[in-house]
Amino acid sequence: MARIVLGVSGGIAAYKAVEVLRRLTEAGHEVTVAPTAAALRFVGAPTWAALSGRPVHDEVWADADQVPHVRLGQRADLVLVAPATADLLARAAHGRADDLLTATLLTARCPVLFAPAMHTEMWAHPATVDNVAALRRRGAVVLAPGVGRLAGADSGPGRLPEPAEIVELAQLLVCRPDALPADLTGRRVLVSAGGTREPLDPVRFLGNRSSGRQGWALASVAAARGAEVAVVAANVERPDPAGARVARVGDAAELRTAVAELAADADVVVMAAAVADFRPADPVAHKIKKSAGAPAPIALAVNPDVLAELVAARRPGQVIVGFAAETGDDAGDVLAHGRAKLARKGCDLLVVNAVGGGRAFGRPDNAGAILGADGSFVEVPLGPKAVLAAAVWDAVAARLGS
Ligand code: CTP
Repeated sequence: MARIVLGVSGGIAAYKAVEVLRRLTEAGHEVTVAPTAAALRFVGAPTWAALSGRPVHDEVWADADQVPHVRLGQRADLVLVAPATADLLARAAHGRADDLLTATLLTARCPVLFAPAMHTEMWAHPATVDNVAALRRRGAVVLAPGVGRLAGADSGPGRLPEPAEIVELAQLLVCRPDALPADLTGRRVLVSAGGTREPLDPVRFLGNRSSGRQGWALASVAAARGAEVAVVAANVERPDPAGARVARVGDAAELRTAVAELAADADVVVMAAAVADFRPADPVAHKIKKSAGAPAPIALAVNPDVLAELVAARRPGQVIVGFAAETGDDAGDVLAHGRAKLARKGCDLLVVNAVGGGRAFGRPDNAGAILGADGSFVEVPLGPKAVLAAAVWDAVAARLGS
């Protein structure tokens, strides 16, 4: 349980902050909402009070004996501003303290996370670009906004990142205040996510249980750490992570083509996707009918190993990370299989997950061991997938040259 100040500034996306608040309180955090005066024109104080179960702090003059303009920030484990409008970012960047939220930002010594939302022109304006750079330079985490429908008929970069993603990153900072340094700034990273589906006929496929959640967490954490992120997503039904470009693919062949193209100029490639090792050798163009009698056995062909191809084509300095889902068997335990696979695949890092018994697939949490080709070993206990993602990026950042 952490003490979180949820600052809400005055944009139409304030209504989505209600969902952010609900998720944070359901996770057991004590959330104090500090809306700006403009935010209260979009969503009123009773909504924030009812959902947080706490008084709403919206001005410096109330309860002056408790010095709220100082106390709120001093006591917080995290200050999250969602939505952060262009005006709020400007005031924060200039150290203004003209309302309770900006005063709180000046007194807070805990991690500060801004989730921006504004029109594309405002986000792209040099004034906002400078303000965001100043805030990041001082250690705040400023997420890239999502791309899509904005207020009115407009569309483009400027949407508030998805509430679930904001909360995932907020919880990461609560678990690990140092989890989102700007150490991937200027780096191009490629993450593959999800699970391929190998067609048998136009309606059937051979697939696997990967949901894409771990790959999404990797993309989201990398973007928050400053990277330029590309994602190749195989059958992931989730909204794009904020700040990432997502190429959607279906089968292993499509994934291989997309990954090969994007890996060419990536500093880091993380293969979190569950790529099918085999595909039906002869997919048929029409639906296979029951009336055709006893089903024919499905002949399988071997898919190319994309990770092995990446390793073979690796540029000097490029860091390549593989994932391995293992159950352990008579031949060895999960880690023994992981070490053997790391040696076989030739990547720099291998993240080994123990699977089976309902672990890993489709769940919000994951545990893993990060094995390095240099013999390093980092164990990440069961926790949110973003925590494992942050540990992976720590290991990657340590291997990237300056
Ligand atoms: N992978 C890949 N291409 C494939 C299969 C897997 O790039 N055709 C990548 C996955 O994205 C993952 C890693 O390889 O990063 C481990 O995949 P896995 O299937 O566990 O490895 P295999 O060598 O197939 O080992 P196993 O015998 O356990 O299936």
